[in-house]
Amino acid sequence: MINYSTAIYEVSAGTSNQLLPSTLPEIAFSGRSNVGKSSLLNRILGRKALARVSSVPGKTVTINFFKLDYCRFVDLPGYGYAKVKKEEKLRWAELMEGYFSSGRNIKLVVQLVDLRHKPSELDLQMIEFMSSNSIPFIVVMTKADKLNKTERKNCEKLNFDILSRYGDFPIIPFSALNGEGVTEIRNSIENSLV
Ligand code: GTP
Ligand code: MG
Repeated sequence: MINYSTAIYEVSAGTSNQLLPSTLPEIAFSGRSNVGKSSLLNRILGRKALARVSSVPGKTVTINFFKLDYCRFVDLPGYGYAKVKKEEKLRWAELMEGYFSSGRNIKLVVQLVDLRHKPSELDLQMIEFMSSNSIPFIVVMTKADKLNKTERKNCEKLNFDILSRYGDFPIIPFSALNGEGVTEIRNSIENSLV
């Protein structure tokens, strides 16, 4: 069992040479800007505001490290925000490449998609990348509380149909508002660390 309450924020890296040395197993969180990454991190860690929740998306391009007993949670920079300048996109790419190509001990990537929409081209590129590089991952469909029963059924089916083409991995509906999915996500994280 992970003791989530011990999580502390360590550092934010804005360029790949600022990344922490890979000294612990890592669980990384990936998704487009505004998909709910920080909200999910706070829920999983049982903290109100360890990771900053923003109303303005795409503001900061950094990789944020959080240390727990014997692993790190890594908040990857969001992608896909239309108003981001070219140099910020280049910084994003440099950071992500630096993170994924330096032989780190990545145990699991938690890939977030918005349950209300079908996965974007960039979501699918991330999934394709992890799939073809044998990086273990799960997909979490966020903001489940925003849909009624019928909408939800349709959206889940749409997402399952598209995502299942990329392999056999857990797909977990989640709500940061009411906590749906927290236990399943924690189970996946803990199983990845044994
Ligand atoms: P960036 O770091 O800016 O890329 O965004 P992020 O992916 O970290 O998203 P964040 O957690 O900041 O949430 C973005 C907005 O969506 C905020 O207004 C949140 O309150 C809202 N939000 C996130 N998760 C949920 C959810 O499960 N349900 C509902 N209703 N709102 C959510
Ligand atoms: Mg965030």
